[in-house]
Amino acid sequence: MKKHLITSAIPYVNGVKHLGNLVGSMLPADVYARFRRQLGQLDGSETLFICGTDDHGTPVEIAAQKENTPVAAFVQHWHDFQADIYTRFGLSFDHFGSSSSPQNRILTQHFAQKLKDAGLIDVRTQTMLYSKADGRFLPDRYVEGTCPKCGFGKARGDQCDGCGSVLDPTDLIEPYSSISGSKDLELRDSKHLYLKQSQLVDKLRTWIDAQNWPNLSKSIAYKWLDEGLEDRGITRDIKWGVPVPPEVFGDDFADKVFYVWFDAPIAYIAATKEWADKQGLDDSAWKDEWWFGNPDVQYTEFMGKDNVYFHTLSFPATLIGSGEPWKKVDTLKSFNWLTYYGGKFSTSMGVGIFTDTALELLADIDNGPDYWRYYLIARAPESDDSAFMWPDFQAVVNKDLADVLGNFVNRTLQFTHKNFGNSVPASSGNYTEADQACATRLNDILTRYTAHMENAEMRRSQEALRELWVAGNEYLAEQEPWKVIKTDKERAATILNLAIHMIVLYARAMAPICPFSAAKIIALFPELPAPTSMVPAAKGTPAHINTPWAWPRSLKDFHATLPSLTTFQLPEGVLFPKIADEQIADWESRFGNQKV
Ligand code: 2FM
Ligand code: ZN
Repeated sequence: MKKHLITSAIPYVNGVKHLGNLVGSMLPADVYARFRRQLGQLDGSETLFICGTDDHGTPVEIAAQKENTPVAAFVQHWHDFQADIYTRFGLSFDHFGSSSSPQNRILTQHFAQKLKDAGLIDVRTQTMLYSKADGRFLPDRYVEGTCPKCGFGKARGDQCDGCGSVLDPTDLIEPYSSISGSKDLELRDSKHLYLKQSQLVDKLRTWIDAQNWPNLSKSIAYKWLDEGLEDRGITRDIKWGVPVPPEVFGDDFADKVFYVWFDAPIAYIAATKEWADKQGLDDSAWKDEWWFGNPDVQYTEFMGKDNVYFHTLSFPATLIGSGEPWKKVDTLKSFNWLTYYGGKFSTSMGVGIFTDTALELLADIDNGPDYWRYYLIARAPESDDSAFMWPDFQAVVNKDLADVLGNFVNRTLQFTHKNFGNSVPASSGNYTEADQACATRLNDILTRYTAHMENAEMRRSQEALRELWVAGNEYLAEQEPWKVIKTDKERAATILNLAIHMIVLYARAMAPICPFSAAKIIALFPELPAPTSMVPAAKGTPAHINTPWAWPRSLKDFHATLPSLTTFQLPEGVLFPKIADEQIADWESRFGNQKV
């Protein structure tokens, strides 16, 4: 029996993430996980969807220091804050963990021990920038300066935002401390652990050759391999992080922690252990079942393209280097950037829309989160960057959700109600060529839609979903039940019966992308099982909107599985209220409507 393990890159814990972060990893991962769970009801496969916050690293330590808050409390606050937002977006993580959990400390230290045992760890003396004013070493983001590759003036010690190069603090030209601004820096020696990735090149290449990843991911991985994989420093002179165990690595390491990118991906495994521990399950539930040598597990990772190096090379180097049969990624889905009018979404500059604000803007629409979900999936930056623009958001929501789908549901149910009350009119069983053609068309679209979902192709999935809705609209427009009913009530009943079944088919098919709206539509049919929990019980608890309806395979299959659909209710109010021009004008003036 297949088991689908799905992870989304874990967002840095500090602060609120913007819509670009959401669409670049967590949202598509959620759509895929929801699809897999629905399909699992047909093929018996299981799905586990794991995410969490990336709690370590210098930016977190710096941000907490700026607020004069103990780092652990700062991290807990933002972890809960983010978890609550994702819940409200309907992200259905089985567990949303933390990389600063005890589980991750134990596992990270375990991997370091195994790598050492395998002879893959070197102790090297690194000459590091030391700030006398701050009385400390300045790793990564604690130092800024000019990029040696592109001349960007605010490059950080670990990476340049101007050209994307990975840097070492000592590479920077005219470096200064990002804590105090002091330029009074000197070079001092500090011992660090290095993972000898260069010794793993052959094993990594053999493994990557055998992978069936999308082009973007594979070409990035080969580029790194071809350029020669360097050994990586995996420790840092900071306090916040997974401590390097001195009993294993010696007293020189007593005050050091592992580098954030060493422990962060291990947190996928640790968060799965958190998930098992929370339910009182033993180690086999997370380890043997999901992560350790189970050939039935199919592992799919979602991430932004800047994360590809770490997931195709550095994390696999840890896993392969351990010599243990840890599960490695099978399918790696990476995304380009969502831009704000062609410019960068930027947390530090406040450009773009943050996830909490996005929810607030549509707070008075109960399925408002689906407006974002649908739009973002429609514009997912899959093959290229893609631009967020307010009028585009309005057009997609108003046309697709309100006009195409909303109208179909409304017209069908209102007209049926007028003529048949709350009963689903029975089909005569005499299907015309037009009915058969419509069923064939829907089945063809569904087959394509299913294939796109299986491949986690977001835009194509959304297009296919929309095609399903269009097919129903065209069927109704051509069959004109409002005319037929005047002369042939039985035929009108058959048309409406089919249209009503299409509505339920649509709800099931849209549930991965628009779970709130799907639940609203399903709720119009009292004979259908309701989702077990629409909204999580407590703030900060991961949402698990269970979708008790299976993935639809075909209209025929659909009829067979739901023979007892006899009554319905009219929707209360409009299913998809439109976004007004005035709202768009207001948002444009608040958030800007051009590239910054
Ligand atoms: O880029 C980021 O937001 C990182 N926090 C992603 C980490 S993913 C993983 F490896 F843990
Ligand atoms: Zn640069």
